[in-house]
Amino acid sequence: MGPRLSWHHPKPVVLGGGPTCISRFDGRWVTAGWNISATRSEAAATPRLCVRCDNARVIYLDHAATAPPDPRVVEAMLPHLTERFGNPSEPHALGRQARADLDAAREEIASLVGAKPADVVLTGGGTEADNLAVLGRAQGQPGRMVVSAIEHPAVRRTAEVLARRGWEIALAPVLPNGRIDLIELWDLVQTGDALVCVMGASNVTGVVQPIADIAAICAEHAVPLHVDHVQTAAGAELELSELPGRVTIALAAHKLGGPRGVGAVIGSGVESLDPIVFGGGQEGGLRSGTEDVAGAVALAAALRIRQGAEAPAERSQRAALRDDLEARLGLSVVGAEVERLPGHALLLTGYRGDTVVRLFDERGIAISAGSACASGETLPDVTLTAMDIDDDAARSAIRITLGPTTTAADIDAVVAVWTELAPALQVAAEASA
Ligand SMILES: Cc1ncc(COP(=O)(O)O)c(C=O)c1O
Repeated sequence: MGPRLSWHHPKPVVLGGGPTCISRFDGRWVTAGWNISATRSEAAATPRLCVRCDNARVIYLDHAATAPPDPRVVEAMLPHLTERFGNPSEPHALGRQARADLDAAREEIASLVGAKPADVVLTGGGTEADNLAVLGRAQGQPGRMVVSAIEHPAVRRTAEVLARRGWEIALAPVLPNGRIDLIELWDLVQTGDALVCVMGASNVTGVVQPIADIAAICAEHAVPLHVDHVQTAAGAELELSELPGRVTIALAAHKLGGPRGVGAVIGSGVESLDPIVFGGGQEGGLRSGTEDVAGAVALAAALRIRQGAEAPAERSQRAALRDDLEARLGLSVVGAEVERLPGHALLLTGYRGDTVVRLFDERGIAISAGSACASGETLPDVTLTAMDIDDDAARSAIRITLGPTTTAADIDAVVAVWTELAPALQVAAEASA
């Protein structure tokens, strides 16, 4: 019989350097996080608090799902959730103060991505930003749009809605390395199309798209381009002013250390979008609803951190940790041949990705699977299918995404857990074969 993967979870005990959960795993002593040792005292020598206990310290490696709140962003927001609470549309002092705060945030957001303040439409998150950018171009009679085959559901499902309304949606394919096939794109885009929509970097693979080339193709055909930069903003410089033609981008604050439900569509030509939310006419009539000043301030603060002067050095550190992790795990890396977001690793494990994610979770490490779960069935992600990765390999994908808070010790922990798990998973796989 192979090693048992069951996990015992006694109360934390104080041993060695501090309180830690000590468990038995396959006949050995382990701390709840990852330190696996022959004896109880050895296991306790590297204390790590358990995810299920109070004061848990989770090793968080799922930054692509959402980033932990950056304390500087929280600090910047707080006055706007307390004493500076006015409605920017009101003429009294508190309202004027809120308007000034909102204007300042908008100006900073614009300057950090190379746009004009008038080009910034604040929205309730990344999904709404993508919806506005796509539905806002679906004006008049149904026409045609080109959408990449690997879009996030925020774009993909919106395009499906348009298809049901009679729009022709042409899917732009990707190469096996995850990049948009530019030759195919050139052939697909037609003058008169309402929009081309691609993501700046994939939330699944982290592969960065050649946006300058794509923008040039769109400009050549006089077709507006929308780039879903929700993932990109945390890992690459955004400079809208360098792109030709009419280009909008979507952002979401929570991928950058800000709060959920705060996003933006930014770009030349936003004023020609049709609104999808109606009411008091805020945001130049493009997004009605009392403005979320705290959210706008948070998005500005988060972008200042992730797009500001210190960002390139942090990105290089993150990439170095990711490269070290990939080299030590020795697993097949999706998109390894092309540019990827610096902290992003999509790895094919050879075992069920959802099982691997659960086993990591039980050891206090948060990662995610590269597959989608629908109706209890694990489906290969559309991105991997579009890259011609076979279904079994796709189902074995795990996504490990690092952030600015990730340390070398976190990488050591992942490697230690995988070194321990891989033989057990192999035995289990052989037993069930
Ligand atoms: C590429 C991409 N686009 C859009 C979204 C949606 O953003 P939000 O969760 O803020 O609605 C996400 C979120 O995961 C994403 O990764």
